[in-house]
Amino acid sequence: MANEPAGRGSTRTAVVWSGLEPVLDREGSGARDVLDIGGGTGGLAVRVGALGHRVTVVDPSPDALAALDRRAGEHDVAVTGRQGDLSTLLDVVGPDSADVVLCHGVLEVVDDPAAALATLAHVVRAGGVLSLLVAQRHAAVVARAMAGHFQQALAMLDPQTGSGPHPADPPTPTGRSGRRYSHDELTSLVGDAGFAVDTVHAIRVFTDLVPGSLLDLEPGASAALVELEQAVATRPEYLPLATQLHLLAHRA
Ligand SMILES: C[S@@+](CC[C@H](N)C(=O)[O-])C[C@H]1O[C@@H](n2cnc3c(N)ncnc32)[C@H](O)[C@@H]1O
Repeated sequence: MANEPAGRGSTRTAVVWSGLEPVLDREGSGARDVLDIGGGTGGLAVRVGALGHRVTVVDPSPDALAALDRRAGEHDVAVTGRQGDLSTLLDVVGPDSADVVLCHGVLEVVDDPAAALATLAHVVRAGGVLSLLVAQRHAAVVARAMAGHFQQALAMLDPQTGSGPHPADPPTPTGRSGRRYSHDELTSLVGDAGFAVDTVHAIRVFTDLVPGSLLDLEPGASAALVELEQAVATRPEYLPLATQLHLLAHRA
């Protein structure tokens, strides 16, 4: 993400942030305890910390945590980094320890998503909020087919049941490819873990289809694209076209 042009980077994150900001900024709620599980190098965590919240990033990667420290220092924001993963999370941060849990880009790579969500339900305080960002499957099928990878598209049609990366994915150095979810699969998993779903937004409906050069060269194109993405994010008919789903839920 660091090498992306500013235009595309901002269009990728704008809708998620505008969904999250009101949750973090509830009037009278003051500083909250925010856990960013799999927070990586802290792009989101530092932004949340800059609002005055107490942010802890738990991530298995020591390199990511070192980059998080550097990023937090550069922005003069206090963020705590702890090494761990979803399977050890309760030992690292303890139960009922967070008002808000961010779990972005992680549910794709865990071995057992249901167990991961059950763990998060123990970490979030009653009434607290879960923010999940996951890859959406139907858009990925279309993208593979449009690129001429018809066998891969075919293999991705149904939910993946095994662990690890999807068999249709080419190996990637970062291992980022993994499970993808439909709206119904995601809301059902989250509900089964004891959360009440508040919203599901469509993220990156158009952004990944637009040539980067257009965003770089056309004055005002990035802002117009963000406006369009914001406009379709809450329309259910665009959910199957979205690269990602952003779900907000609370623990009853
Ligand atoms: C795709 S990155 C997402 C980083 C960040 N949350 C974001 O949205 O930009 C996935 C992150 O999950 C971490 N991760 C991988 N397996 C994990 C696990 N089992 N539990 C928690 N984090 C994990 C990786 O180290 C990596 O930092």
